[in-house]
Amino acid sequence: MSIVNNIKRPIKTEMERFEPFFSEQLKSKIPLLGIITNYILRRKGKQMRPMLVFLSAKLTGTISEASYVSATLIELLHTATLIHDDVVDETYQRRGLFSINALWKSKIAVLVGDYFLSRGLMLALDTDQIGVLKVVSTAVKEMAEGELLQIEKSRKLDITEEVYYEIITKKTATLIAACTTAGAHSVNASPEKLDLMKQFGTYLGIAFQIKDDLFDYEKTDLIGKPTGNDIREKKMTLPLIYVLNNCEKKERKRILSIIRRHHKNDKKVAEVIEFVRNNGGIEYTHEKMINYKNKALAVLDQFEDSDAKQSLKQLVDFTTERKK
Ligand code: IPE
Ligand code: IPE
Ligand code: MG
Ligand code: MG
Repeated sequence: MSIVNNIKRPIKTEMERFEPFFSEQLKSKIPLLGIITNYILRRKGKQMRPMLVFLSAKLTGTISEASYVSATLIELLHTATLIHDDVVDETYQRRGLFSINALWKSKIAVLVGDYFLSRGLMLALDTDQIGVLKVVSTAVKEMAEGELLQIEKSRKLDITEEVYYEIITKKTATLIAACTTAGAHSVNASPEKLDLMKQFGTYLGIAFQIKDDLFDYEKTDLIGKPTGNDIREKKMTLPLIYVLNNCEKKERKRILSIIRRHHKNDKKVAEVIEFVRNNGGIEYTHEKMINYKNKALAVLDQFEDSDAKQSLKQLVDFTTERKK
């Protein structure tokens, strides 16, 4: 059995029921929206966020209707942010297919992202899930802040390791923490448990984004989105931040000038990637990722043993070992 199927085992029926629940939210009378929605529904992605909602709910109580609303709302928002992210990053590939902006242009992608976002918010309102709405709206606000901070740093190229963690916490970990918190909230878990689940999600989310940033330095084309793209966008992530802080001043100047002036030049980008690989950037980053992974596991260990807990542990391992 594949790892993901194994992780899903305690929530198999819930994940199956989730599918129609999710697509139901996207019905529209506008033909163009129907075409684009169908295209999106064909390539689902890993569905890590709904899995996290259901497993967190199961870990702390009995899965309820509110758990479905949370899972659906969060996956809708996640999809919306990916559609917008590919516009912002000018990326033309997502989940192994063309991105929405590649096929229908940015104008349409922005509007479709907005549509997904508002359908998510409406679902929470229609079902009176104000608690979930609060958690998730905070996450959306933080994501926008994180993305803007990232853009600011890519203009100035003065990012530090500390700011890097701030960016990835805001743009990725907050939404992952919203999954684990909303899951626990949907089964009326105690404030202590809610707090633990938030911590768990935050550590897991940081490890998840570090892994995503490592992918960018790999040669593989298995992950379904382009690699080397971060440097093309002048986006400095941990592997690069580390080597720049630990090399000769002259080298630092040389690399920064490539990023500033030649970030669209594939040969020059490859040179930066090689420099990072040859100077311990990957090892250092991997080590940091494992630290966060272990922090996440330590929080989980404060819960009693159960199927859901075993699956969550496997999901943590999967996050740092995955191939896409
Ligand atoms: C991608 O998230 C965006 C990041 C936060 C790095 P996922 O890797 O979970 O995307 P899908 O849903 O599986 O495509
Ligand atoms: C992830 O950002 C998307 C958000 C968190 C909004 P990236 O730009 O780093 O992710 P990928 O690599 O395109 O999925
Ligand atoms: Mg991107
Ligand atoms: Mg981005």
